[in-house]
Amino acid sequence: MGLNLLTICYLIGSITFILGLKMLSNPATARKGNLVAAFGMTVAILGTIFLYRNEETHQHLHNFIWIFGGLLIGGIVGTLSAKKVKMTSMPEMVSLFNGMGGACAALISLVEFNHISRILAPVETSFMHISMLSLVDLSVIKPTVLIIVIGLIIGSVSFAGSMIAWGKLNGKVKDFSFPGQNILNLVLLAIAIGAGAYLVIDPTQSYLLYCILGLALVYGVLFVLPIGGADMPVVISLLNSFTGVAAACGGFLYNNKVMLTGGILVGAAGTLLTILMCKAMNRSLVNVLVGSFGGNKATAAGGSKDQGAYKEISLSDAAMVMSYANKVMIVPGYGLAVAQAQHTCHELEKILTEKGVEVKYAIHPVAGRMPGHMNVLLAEADVSYDVLLEMEQANDEFKTTDVVLILGANDVVNPAAKNDPASPIYGMPILEVEQAKNVIVNKRSMKPGYAGIENDLFFQPKTSMLFGDAKKVLQDLCAEVKAI
Ligand code: TAP
Repeated sequence: MGLNLLTICYLIGSITFILGLKMLSNPATARKGNLVAAFGMTVAILGTIFLYRNEETHQHLHNFIWIFGGLLIGGIVGTLSAKKVKMTSMPEMVSLFNGMGGACAALISLVEFNHISRILAPVETSFMHISMLSLVDLSVIKPTVLIIVIGLIIGSVSFAGSMIAWGKLNGKVKDFSFPGQNILNLVLLAIAIGAGAYLVIDPTQSYLLYCILGLALVYGVLFVLPIGGADMPVVISLLNSFTGVAAACGGFLYNNKVMLTGGILVGAAGTLLTILMCKAMNRSLVNVLVGSFGGNKATAAGGSKDQGAYKEISLSDAAMVMSYANKVMIVPGYGLAVAQAQHTCHELEKILTEKGVEVKYAIHPVAGRMPGHMNVLLAEADVSYDVLLEMEQANDEFKTTDVVLILGANDVVNPAAKNDPASPIYGMPILEVEQAKNVIVNKRSMKPGYAGIENDLFFQPKTSMLFGDAKKVLQDLCAEVKAI
């Protein structure tokens, strides 16, 4: 009875994970999707705590103080940090939480190997080590050790890599690379895998487990250290899929179906997101896997060339051009998020719409600092999903657009991605705003964006700069447009 009920709990968990993921693919249902999946996870956790029974010992879980103590501490820390985190720091938090998942998977491997070591202890201490080994039922132990090794390697790489990614995103860790780093990385990984294979053949060599742990941690650090600039989100997504696979290994070890399903879903979703982001940033996955891409971008991008003069536009002129336009396309970017100007932006959209102007938003897949950043930001300000255009749709519509208003976006509208093979962002699909009749760019200065490179768009004849903090500029624009 207990087991059946537990199976039902796991089924609820698995179904809600899938439903939740599906709902996350649309901003209108994303919040609900999160809650649905969280509900399923709660059912699965409570089911495990109260209904699980060990098949051999028939014992229920009993160490409730440890379990609920851990849940309480983790719950409080998680809730407080999620409430406190700024929208712009969200990728850091994702990276940190993902690292914790990787660490859990690695710890599970260490703990489970400990159990195996206890079974093998008499063999390990025997002089007739090899012949004694044949007496133990290795047909059960070897597959378990294989899963333990896979979980340990992937979990440790994910933990170490995510910690470096976290440090990089908050500016505490700088890009670092040296000649031959890729080769060293591959050698480290090969030794870790070789040691893992040997441990599977002879599980009594328990010291190898700690060698594998050390090698995987160093590999995780060296894998992410050289990656810089605009490529970090791809790495975080990839590490996220690693954590999923490592958690699925835990599911195998404990014969726990919901853990297996959850891990596989995270692994698959992370992989798909990685591929999508690679496409959006024009990077190959192989390039990501050897951990070499994006390195030294800042230096490559550093040289500034003389691009001539840019022209400025006054607030009143900008308001005038937009008020008399048929169609205005707003391009939101990281600066809009920093300025927390999404509500004022929606306000401007409403005022212009009331004046008969068609207003839409062009959303680049990597605008801002995390996948879906702009969608989340605009959804918070109640902007209708119907007016949010994806990059391909927007690029079709720029030709018929009178005014493009760029709000704190830079790299995602940089034509160097199309025209300059020497540019570090060359090949990245961009919003082709220069096809519109007028382009107004709001930012605070001529400083570059995330990729650290200059933007030719700002110097083109149809572009005008409107300097200032996005929120203040939008407030002033609202007042000016209202007054027309
Ligand atoms: P960026 O290229 O980073 O440009 C943002 C611009 O906003 C800056 O040039 C900055 O110029 C301006 N800005 C900053 N604060 C502002 C404020 N308060 N008011 C007005 N403007 C302000 O942004 P983007 O075009 O959105 O591109 C995103 C970049 O981040 C891409 O390179 C992308 O690859 C990378 N990235 C993306 C993600 C994901 S998944 N979305 C994750 C990590 C990194 P001033 O300083 O002159 O104001």
